[in-house]
Order: sequence, then structure tokens, then C-alpha cells
Amino acid sequence: SLTLLGGEPGIGKSTLLMETCKALVEKYPADLILYISGEESGAQVAARAKRLGVKGQNFFILSETSLQSILQHLNKLKPKFLVLDSIQTTTSTDVPSAAGSVAQVREVTYEIMNYSKANNISTFIVGHVNKEGGIAGPKLLEHMVDTVVYFEGEKLGENRLLRAIKNRFGSCNEVGIFRMCENGLREVKNFEKYFLQDSQGKGYGRSLTCIWEGTRPLLVEIQALVVENKFGNGRRVAQGISLNRLALLIAVIDKYFEIPLSYNDIYINVVGGVSLTGRESDLAIIAALLSSYKQKNIMENTVLMGEVGLSGEIRRVASLNESLKELQLLGYNRVVCSEKSANEYSSSYGIEITDIKMANALETKIF
Ligand code: TYD
Ligand code: MG
Repeated sequence: SLTLLGGEPGIGKSTLLMETCKALVEKYPADLILYISGEESGAQVAARAKRLGVKGQNFFILSETSLQSILQHLNKLKPKFLVLDSIQTTTSTDVPSAAGSVAQVREVTYEIMNYSKANNISTFIVGHVNKEGGIAGPKLLEHMVDTVVYFEGEKLGENRLLRAIKNRFGSCNEVGIFRMCENGLREVKNFEKYFLQDSQGKGYGRSLTCIWEGTRPLLVEIQALVVENKFGNGRRVAQGISLNRLALLIAVIDKYFEIPLSYNDIYINVVGGVSLTGRESDLAIIAALLSSYKQKNIMENTVLMGEVGLSGEIRRVASLNESLKELQLLGYNRVVCSEKSANEYSSSYGIEITDIKMANALETKIF
């Protein structure tokens, strides 16, 4: 099988795969595992392996970038598990173009795939992803491999999310959450409240929402800072939310709240390095912006969930029922959501459910 692990440089892919080797060594001590690095020297990889505590007679390290030489080693060693770190540093002499080019990446992946499948090897390939999110030759690799997982997070922060994008062996609906520590990655269990700011409580520009990551609910805090800009063209800085989406939500506020929000500098941040890709957090983003602009605190323990449409209408979100169950367990007692959802669930849980039909009614519901 072939598994592709994608992620930005420095995010922890090599660390994750070294930890994977550690687990494999412990589980299958009789099977040979080969870690090939084209990025670090053998000594560097060995030092990391030692530091992370990988111990085993059958764990081998190779520093190599030539595909032909790698295949020779594979023929000799006959590993059961293989790590190729990374696809961008491995080159085949059959292809004239440079390392990391689309032609090289395609050729190397193709050869490694054939070899792995013919010889019953479970192979993990590392692929660096650029800021725009594509692995060199973007979607090219994804359809060739059996499984694609991405490792994400803020490089300076310690939280990491492992997300399955494609999985020929099971569900994609699962994420792993890890913390990058001094001695490797630690799994975060019971992470429902993990991404909340340590200091809970009041503060302008802070709102809460509940999103689903794979099969698990995640309570996240959004922080906004809206500052008057005397020179006109407002700055936009967003972490965890795309700038396009932020622009859309600012436009909704401008238009339907009749507030000239777009003239301000606007900073928005999702606490803990989570990315909000779904639309269910729209309402919470608007609430955070409004709270900062108006300098008013959002009522405590209030969780906002709703998609905001272009005419300012609030739409229902999927999996609200499951979120409510979870919020009840976590002790949150107030949820603001679409009118339809509110009618549907108002009497189901011990949570006060406030309905909202149009975004511009938000002020009367959260302050
Ligand atoms: P690395 O796995 O080399 O990233 P990638 O292969 O994706 O480029 O790890 C990146 C960073 O992780 C590195 O700057 C140092 C840090 N790190 C730790 O904090 N703890 C550790 O135990 C290890 C091995 C790395
Ligand atoms: Mg690496």
C-alpha cells in the first residue's frame, strides 16, 4: 500500500513517521523497517530515531536520493515497511528534469508504487506542501496513492492535526490531534475543549463555536480585533479563516448592520491553530467582529452555530443535534442558531436555544 503524508516544511512529518516506525518496531519486531531520508544525513536521522526512542534490530536508516539506488537497497533488504522522506528529494535518472518537478514526482511515485505493490510493502511517502496547499504537481499524487493524510497546524504553535483526505481502507472521517513536545508528538485525547483559550471569561472580540473534525466535536474560540484605521484602506490579517471568507462576512456586516466595518483594520484569529473551513462558524465570526467593534462582551457560555447567507439570513448547520449533546455534557447552557434548528431542538436538551433569522438581529441575542 502507499500512504502519502503531506504538510508544510517543518510541521513535523518526519517526526510523525519516525514515531510511526517506533510503533511498528514495537508491534512487528520481526519485520524489517527501512527509513529513507533524502533530506537529512544518516547520522541526523539516527540521532532523531534515538531521541524518540526507536529501538530494534530490524530498523534501518538510509540516506539516499537516487531512485535507482533506493530500488537496489530494497531488493537487498526486502523491508515490510518503508518510509520515503521525501518524494521531492528523490530523483530517477530516467527523467531528465530537476528534483521535485512534476515529471520526477510522478515517475518516482509510480516506481515506488509498483515496487511496493509487487513486493507487499507498506510504504509511507512524505510530500511537502507549499503555502497554497498543493503537493508539487498538486493533485497529481493524490489519485496514485491509496491513502492521503495531511499534517497541519501553526508551525510556531504546538498543536497539530492529522487529517485523512482519501482512504481506500476505511473512513476519511477521522482526525488525530497531537501536541509537538520536546520529545516528540503526543496524542491529545478528550480534545473537545482543548482549543479553548486557557483564560476563559470576558474580553471584547471573543466568541465560541462548535465544529466537527471528522467524527468528533471541537469547541473553538474565535478572537477578533477591530481597530480604527485613519488612513482608509483597512488591513486584514486572518489566522485559521480564509481572507475571502472574512471579506464576505465583513461585507455582510457592512450591508445589513449598516456599520462601516470595512474601513477598520481587522485581525482575526482562531485559537489553537485550528482552521475553520466549514461555514458553520460564520455566525461566531460575525459575533466576534461585532463584539470587538462595539466593545461589548458576548454573554458567557454562549456558543454560536450558523451559516450566514449573502442576504444576511442564518442557515441551519449539519450535525447540530450531536453538537448540542456534546455541549450539554461540557456544561454550556446557551446556543444561538438558525430559527429552523431552534424550533427543531428547543426542547431536546437542557440548553437555552436562541433562534436567529437574520444576522442583523445578532446584537439583541448575544450582548
Ligand atoms: P520535522 O519532523 O523535521 O518536520 P518536517 O519533516 O515536516 O519538515 O519537525 C519539525 C520541527 O519539530 C522541528 O523544527 C523541531 C520540532 N521537533 C520538536 O519540537 N520535538 C521533537 O521531538 C522533534 C523530533 C522535532
Ligand atoms: Mg522532514
